[in-house]
Amino acid sequence: MSIHSQPSQSVEDVVEARPAIVAELHHALTVQGLSLVDLAWEQQRLHESRRWSVVEALGAVDFARVSESDRHLVWNAGRAELTTKPGADRLERLADAECRRWLEKDPTVAAIMQACGTWSRYWNEEEAHHETAFNRISTVMKLERVSNATFIEFRKVFPDDDMLRTLTLLAISEVVAAVNYGQCAAIIEDPGLRALFKQVAADEIQHMNNFIAFAKALVDSGAYRAKEAFAVAHLFLRDGGEVHGSKRERVEARDTHVNWWDHLEHREGMYTPDALRKKEQLIFHALKRITGITVDSREAVEDTWMDLVGC
Ligand SMILES: [Fe+2]
Ligand SMILES: [Fe+2]
Repeated sequence: MSIHSQPSQSVEDVVEARPAIVAELHHALTVQGLSLVDLAWEQQRLHESRRWSVVEALGAVDFARVSESDRHLVWNAGRAELTTKPGADRLERLADAECRRWLEKDPTVAAIMQACGTWSRYWNEEEAHHETAFNRISTVMKLERVSNATFIEFRKVFPDDDMLRTLTLLAISEVVAAVNYGQCAAIIEDPGLRALFKQVAADEIQHMNNFIAFAKALVDSGAYRAKEAFAVAHLFLRDGGEVHGSKRERVEARDTHVNWWDHLEHREGMYTPDALRKKEQLIFHALKRITGITVDSREAVEDTWMDLVGC
């Protein structure tokens, strides 16, 4: 039998199903026998099924109806989205480096890393939609310009870290973005602009689900420990933690990179998204999916983290 005609029941099953994230990635690689080519196909199908046009979305916005407060939301969103490209570029590079590091020791972990690096091309492309949509609206509405210096500053690349920590941080960053955009969509009056924010929020949820799937696969492999995911969640949820973004009393000054959530500007009388409870719930849910450990409060996250590190 030639290689081209080998039957593969599990692959056919997946191909015929609705496009979806491969949530049980470790199982798919080790038990179902999916290859990186199969996984790339699944990623492509899902990406294609979710594509939308920025040009068309902007055509539906009634610029005359956009309020002062809604313009402010758009302006903040455009600046925040500038930081996603360096995030995706860095993930691609880190995932490939980690893949090669694991290749001999654990080929399954190497394959998870390569699948993640491969998916980063879709993530990057989808975030380009968000960045250009919001910044184009700001330009058309003649809002405060984003200077080239700011653009270049916001493109600074995040320093490298452990891969499970990185994926958990990215999952949580998508949680915060998705909830913020959802909050915006709930108060924006213009239907076109509201639809854009809803679309972007849906994209961020899909990104969150991808990061959770890759992080879970690393934990399932046994090569990465749940404590790293809890460490990052604690960083966000502790008193004065990252989840409070630029509303914190002390925002760390960094020369290395720009955390978008530290740079949202709050202006007098303007609505700004918060919904901390919703963000917490989604972070607890993400931890459960990544590690299998249930937590239902910020204190439980801290206690679990302490237990896992053996304090
Ligand atoms: Fe985005
Ligand atoms: Fe995203």
